[in-house]
Amino acid sequence: MTNLLDVYFRETKAGVLGRLDDGMLTFTYDSAYLAEQRSRAISFSMPLQEEPFGDQVVRPFFSGLLPDEGARQRLAGALGLSVGNAFGLLEVIGGECAGALSLYPEGTAPEASSDSDIEILSPEQLDEILSRLRTRPLLGGEDGIRLSLAGAQDKLAVIVNGASIALARDGRPTTHILKPFIQVLEGTVENEYFCMRLAGRLKLPVPRVEMRLGGATAFLLVERYDRTKTVDGKIERLHQEDFCQALSVPPELKYEAEGGPGTERSLALIDQACARPVADRLQFIRMLVFHYLVGNADAHGKNYALLYGSDTPDLAPIYDVVCTAVYPRLSKRLAMKIGGRDVPDTIQLKHWVTLVPDTKAAQRILVRDLAQMAERIVHEADALIAELADEGIKHPILSAIRKVISSRAGSLQRITEQVT
Ligand SMILES: Nc1ncnc2c1ncn2[C@@H]1O[C@H](COP(=O)(O)OP(=O)(O)OP(=O)(O)O)[C@@H](O)[C@H]1O
Ligand SMILES: [Mg+2]
Repeated sequence: MTNLLDVYFRETKAGVLGRLDDGMLTFTYDSAYLAEQRSRAISFSMPLQEEPFGDQVVRPFFSGLLPDEGARQRLAGALGLSVGNAFGLLEVIGGECAGALSLYPEGTAPEASSDSDIEILSPEQLDEILSRLRTRPLLGGEDGIRLSLAGAQDKLAVIVNGASIALARDGRPTTHILKPFIQVLEGTVENEYFCMRLAGRLKLPVPRVEMRLGGATAFLLVERYDRTKTVDGKIERLHQEDFCQALSVPPELKYEAEGGPGTERSLALIDQACARPVADRLQFIRMLVFHYLVGNADAHGKNYALLYGSDTPDLAPIYDVVCTAVYPRLSKRLAMKIGGRDVPDTIQLKHWVTLVPDTKAAQRILVRDLAQMAERIVHEADALIAELADEGIKHPILSAIRKVISSRAGSLQRITEQVT
């Protein structure tokens, strides 16, 4: 027996995800999709071809669309499914995913969206939903809600229009990711809000973020970079996949220490996949430096992505940036090592230069960039803290983050001064 889910790339059926009797997953492109000239591969790991792909490639990609760790466990528990049953979970929640794919039970083509698929939430309804997310991640299995996003934290994909926030039913595309505060970690919303805006100040490509209040608690709204709006207001999907999906690394092994991608494999992926590898290598290195400076140890292979604006992707904007160094209960070890080092305080210039080709010119540019970012980030952090205070956003976590930044920036300046 095979169970089948139809896999749509935007509005076109791209192929079929199958689960065999032994639980193995397969993916086969649809022949009509293969015949169509404009059709795109659903993943760097699954080029267009007639032969089916096997579990080793298919599972990391499709399982990678689902929530991770505790969120997956809670979701599976709420739905009465096993954590390892990626197929079953996608059957229930795989309508609106990261990127351009939607999954539907075989033969049930997605219907054209209508306004009845949208439910604008009152403040009370939003409040109630935020409190329910913990036991029902992504509201999985509720009344027509079919949303899937990776990550270990609670979240919801929503449609934001000015002040209004709406739920999307039946896999209708959304515009924003809503991230509520994390109960056991103080000030995560302010933390992520600050870090994302700081990234923008350092000229890194970063989605727009907003902080709002739901009852007494704050939440974050992150604009989706994998959605665009047409002139008539229709939301369209852009495809994306994270580095783990592109490299066939299962989400449970996303950290380099477990076998997940490190900087070398990530840079090689950029070289092979991206339309502008030279620019994107540089951008990726700047992201690594930013994560280091801001004290984010959690930038693993599912927190970098390829974004398919056309046939060949670009590096997606930076996302999921939180200063984890301010939370004693979180690991201090970097998700991706720099030159083999994952203890931030031990990283020297010789470790940073492993990120660039072994030439004097490349190393000189890197050292200049490191020094400039280290210098700028401290001023920008101060300016941003003042700006947030003007907006009424004050939280003790911000000065704790500021301390981490000035200490990291100080170290980086010291090691770069040795050669300049
Ligand atoms: N602005 C965005 N636009 C489009 N997709 C996004 C955006 N931000 C995040 N994503 C997608 O949503 C997923 C979950 O988001 P995010 O990484 O912020 O969640 P998280 O639960 O904090 O993750 P982690 O487990 O790494 O802490 C990402 O892996 C990425 O695929
Ligand atoms: Mg993440």
